[in-house]
Amino acid sequence: MQLLTYIIVIEICFLLCTASVHFPSLNLTIGTGGNGFGAGSIPLCASSPYGALRLTPDTGNELDIFIVFDHLGGYHFGDSHINTFAHTHTVGAGLPDYGQIGLMPVQVNDVEDLQRMISKTHGYRSAFSHSTERTEPGYYEVYLQTHRIKVQLTATEHVGSHQYLYDKNVNKKYVILIDSSYSLDSSACNNTQVEIDLKMNEVRGWILFDGALSKRFGGVRTYFIISFPQLNITDYGVWNDNKLYPKQLNASACNSGAYLMFSSEQVNILVGISFVSIEQARVNLRMETEYQSFDKILELVQDKWLAEFNRFEIDGWDNDEMSKFNTALYHSLMSPTIWNDANGVYLGWDGQIKVKPDHMDHVYTDMSIWDVFRTQFPFILLHDSKRMNDIVSSIMLNYEQGGDLPKWPLANGYTGCMMGSHSDIILSDLIVKKENSEFLNLTQIVQAVRQVANTNQKHDGRWLVILSSLFHSY
Ligand SMILES: *[C@@H]1O[C@H](CO)[C@@H](O)[C@H](O)[C@H]1NC(C)=O
Ligand SMILES: *[C@@H]1O[C@H](CO)[C@@H](O)[C@H](O)[C@H]1NC(C)=O
Ligand SMILES: *[C@@H]1O[C@H](CO)[C@@H](O)[C@H](O)[C@H]1NC(C)=O
Ligand SMILES: *[C@@H]1O[C@H](CO)[C@@H](O)[C@H](O)[C@H]1NC(C)=O
Ligand SMILES: *[C@@H]1O[C@H](CO)[C@@H](O)[C@H](O)[C@H]1NC(C)=O
Repeated sequence: MQLLTYIIVIEICFLLCTASVHFPSLNLTIGTGGNGFGAGSIPLCASSPYGALRLTPDTGNELDIFIVFDHLGGYHFGDSHINTFAHTHTVGAGLPDYGQIGLMPVQVNDVEDLQRMISKTHGYRSAFSHSTERTEPGYYEVYLQTHRIKVQLTATEHVGSHQYLYDKNVNKKYVILIDSSYSLDSSACNNTQVEIDLKMNEVRGWILFDGALSKRFGGVRTYFIISFPQLNITDYGVWNDNKLYPKQLNASACNSGAYLMFSSEQVNILVGISFVSIEQARVNLRMETEYQSFDKILELVQDKWLAEFNRFEIDGWDNDEMSKFNTALYHSLMSPTIWNDANGVYLGWDGQIKVKPDHMDHVYTDMSIWDVFRTQFPFILLHDSKRMNDIVSSIMLNYEQGGDLPKWPLANGYTGCMMGSHSDIILSDLIVKKENSEFLNLTQIVQAVRQVANTNQKHDGRWLVILSSLFHSY
């Protein structure tokens, strides 16, 4: 009987006490500071393991002077302002790319107030303090001081879930600004389109951007659907070239966006993206969230992180060492990027729409290969060899569809960044360690490696070798 009571107590506690997930000790601000070559460029974000979304507060200093090296991940610890919440980011890269679909909740007195905010770059930004931030794997929370709004974020692989709580004592109008032409690097926007659909309760659109890496292969198009099924819209409009157009439903070209006004102080919105099409963004929304509540999606996302952490058992270190290890582990699980949508559809390296082979759980991209071939990738092979097989299969799909082994694949393109042919080492590491699955075509791998050795590649960056040897760099 006593035992039964005990079990019941444990069960009750289990139900009540799991409201908050228990992660191992972490310090998620590691890698978000530094200057110049010392900047960590880690986005402090809500994301899923290897997810394509790294939903991040993109920050700026007091005067909003964009110091490129400090902001490659969007967030920089030393900053005082949040410029917007952007959905896509690189992890630890050395050039500015991605940083799309800016969303910002604000409070305004009237339309003139709004006009003022959209008429200059990041005119809607907000001051914030680190003391109001809460970060966990898959979760980010902050209080926007300027607009007096609590923001909570989580993200599946392709869907950002936002929850805003507006302070009603301010007595202003509640607004969401959708900066569809926002890019981390503000010069990267090539073209955008945004459209408000009041019947569907959504805002849809796309942006074509030419980031420092992606411009080398013609840019990347990101499609989005912002879904707000529970919101009663009281007013709306778009802006274009610093001018507000109330009650208009669409806008295009860079420097444009849309806004929504509503009366409820708590707001939940979902932002689904795809690199293939609007329809695919809808597929991701449906399959990855089933349009569930913020808390449900957060739980789903954090369970994925826990499942990753639970595969490790660490012993014999003090708390500080554990925290450093766990944080490094967390960072290593943030990339490369899952490139396929929830139903397996992806944009191939030949620009054609493809479906991933059944034997692969995912197709991956965004790999700074010369950085990861002897560090992160052997580590993935050690603890998750199925995933490493998928990464290698992705490199081979890249070869098949694009004609070359990649050096620094971003999205579905070759950036030709950096020297060497470190794809070779990634492929051979898997084979030498006898971890390659039956699905890898060894004849094709030998062919690919020979091609790199014997021909001048279209996407070669090897002239850099000469440059770097002058500086005896790493
Ligand atoms: C977390 O990391 C930051 C940046 O490296 C460091 O300044 C801070 O002291 C760390 N916090 C703890 C509690 O260890
Ligand atoms: C925009 O993209 C098109 C098509 O890729 C390209 O021809 C054009 O040069 C780009 N324009 C700018 C301003 O980047
Ligand atoms: C939205 O409006 C409908 C109809 O006026 C109302 O029933 C509903 O409660 C409102 N929803 C919110 C979240 O305010
Ligand atoms: C807005 O949509 C309408 C109808 O689809 C179209 O005729 C118009 O050109 C669009 N305007 C802009 C600015 O995209
Ligand atoms: C393996 O790759 C070689 C060379 O590309 C090709 O000829 C062969 O058909 C492939 N084998 C299979 C089973 O796909």
